[in-house]
Amino acid sequence: MPTDLYCVFGNPIGHSKSPKIHALFAAQTAQDMRYEARLAPLDGFAATVARFIADGGRGANVTVPFKEEAFRLATQRTPRAEAAGAVNTLSFTDGQIVGDNTDGAGLVRDLKHNLGCNPAGRRILLLGAGGAARGVILPLLLEQPARLVIANRTAEKAVRLVQEFARLPACAISIKPESCGFDALTNLTKERFDLVINATSTGLTNTVLPTSTSLFAPGCVAYEMLYGRETPFMEQARSVLDVRVADGLGMLVEQAAEAFFVWRGVRPNTQAALIALAALAELHQ
Ligand code: ATR
Repeated sequence: MPTDLYCVFGNPIGHSKSPKIHALFAAQTAQDMRYEARLAPLDGFAATVARFIADGGRGANVTVPFKEEAFRLATQRTPRAEAAGAVNTLSFTDGQIVGDNTDGAGLVRDLKHNLGCNPAGRRILLLGAGGAARGVILPLLLEQPARLVIANRTAEKAVRLVQEFARLPACAISIKPESCGFDALTNLTKERFDLVINATSTGLTNTVLPTSTSLFAPGCVAYEMLYGRETPFMEQARSVLDVRVADGLGMLVEQAAEAFFVWRGVRPNTQAALIALAALAELHQ
């Protein structure tokens, strides 16, 4: 039997840590598989996927900027992919392209298992209303937080998102998410949150968010979804006593583990992979 083939599609893709992460998982769990990075041209995603399937590809991860295109390409989609409006995990079976989204599950697992921060009963502030934010809303709501406030620079986008998720059946979620613009956030002097998640892209441009440090409740976790850089959001949170700051490396590893589980039915040890990745990063410094 040939080795099972997987890959990650993106553009650019050279920086991707996914091949390293999946190689660690495969070695740990003794799975006979190969995982590579494949650059897809910006106007040739569907053709690149078709070629990969023809090469015998069994599954793929999808990263920037193709997650919405992967959603449209999928012939079947999981409920969490439908809720996210984007697909980061594809499985190719029986002539079908099954689209899934493991990003939100990755965030929740990182919070619960690596950071000891169970979203249940917590007051959560989610900054941003773009693709990254949308992908984590349903998994966060399913954890039954006390509150979920979605704040965005463009308030209408947060309002629209909240309206969409408010339609979910009450049996699935205990609270309705709330929305506001950043201007309203600056006036919230009495509000406190136990978990503040930055899902905006401001870390990429070093933009300081207009969030007040008074929003962080004592013991709060400030979670930056980006990884590999100290963002202004993380710097601001570090200036507050009794706030724990985390970047998105744990989420990256956990969403990969969830995809690995979807494909192989085996859950890898993510703690060991995180330690190995940190050691590799130090070697290359
Ligand atoms: P992604 O897939 O990374 O979520 P996106 O869908 O383009 O990318 O969304 C980017 C998010 O970052 C949005 O919430 C955006 O706010 P707007 O909806 O108002 O555009 C937010 N964002 C980007 N630049 C920002 C800035 N300078 N200040 C505040 N928010 C910003």
